[in-house]
Amino acid sequence: MTPTTPDESGNGPGADTDRGISRKTLLRAAVAAGAAVPLLATGTVALARDAGSQGRSLTPTPFCDDGDDPTPDQIEGPYFKPNSPLRTNLVTPGTAGTRLTVSGHVFGRNCVPLPGVLLDFWQADNAGAYDLAGYAFRGHQFTDTTGAFTLQTIVPGLYPGRTRHIHVKAQAPGEPVLTTQLYFPGEPRNGTDALFDPALLMNVRDAGGGKQATFDFVLDVDGDPGTGGPTDPPTDPPGGSWAPGRPYAAGDRVTHGGAGYRCLQAHTSMPGWEPPHVPALWRRD
Ligand SMILES: [Fe+2]
Repeated sequence: MTPTTPDESGNGPGADTDRGISRKTLLRAAVAAGAAVPLLATGTVALARDAGSQGRSLTPTPFCDDGDDPTPDQIEGPYFKPNSPLRTNLVTPGTAGTRLTVSGHVFGRNCVPLPGVLLDFWQADNAGAYDLAGYAFRGHQFTDTTGAFTLQTIVPGLYPGRTRHIHVKAQAPGEPVLTTQLYFPGEPRNGTDALFDPALLMNVRDAGGGKQATFDFVLDVDGDPGTGGPTDPPTDPPGGSWAPGRPYAAGDRVTHGGAGYRCLQAHTSMPGWEPPHVPALWRRD
């Protein structure tokens, strides 16, 4: 069934088109990826992966100079489900819809790429319906050591009351969850959806019969989380059965700091992902 979504309507944040597509953000991603600075011959913004094929580069601009505004939050809406599968590809054989790849980086406020960030995506299918019985078009993943992520999916369908969008939760180790939504440029409904925020526009282009999109998140954290170093000391008492470096499955139970926790999503634990810090992964019994 195609849902109606009064819950996802409402007063959106004020428009701020200056933050819509940040060339600086693109430059930063390219530098972080070790690529040449992306700039199409037309002077338009380019995806980071364009750089190698355009044969043109600019002197790299310092990419971390001001501490970008953190990615704004958005309402969760009524269709989030915990315990999504660990996967980067939401497309299955026979999936209808235009193929879409979303890639980018997650940065801290100080522009440091953040590894190990939990990204939990959910979206409507090609017909604009959310899977409430199962986990179609739902999946979580972790940014790699360079803070990068890639999601294989389809362009989500439209449903009443909303413009086209993808939901996502982002959480650096030991930090609060950012819940937000990503939008597509050029959508007619962007002008009428009160939730739409141009700061959350992806950079999208046609590619190979599908679409490629990029978006860089900036989380309101200082960066370098989870190191356990002197500037980032653990805040929870040690002890308990939880330990870093172990694979945990949904439903597993551990103790930490004298409290019991149940695992919500399969993952491999790591320093900074202590159960009290990651409500997306652990729920207190
Ligand atoms: Fe939605």
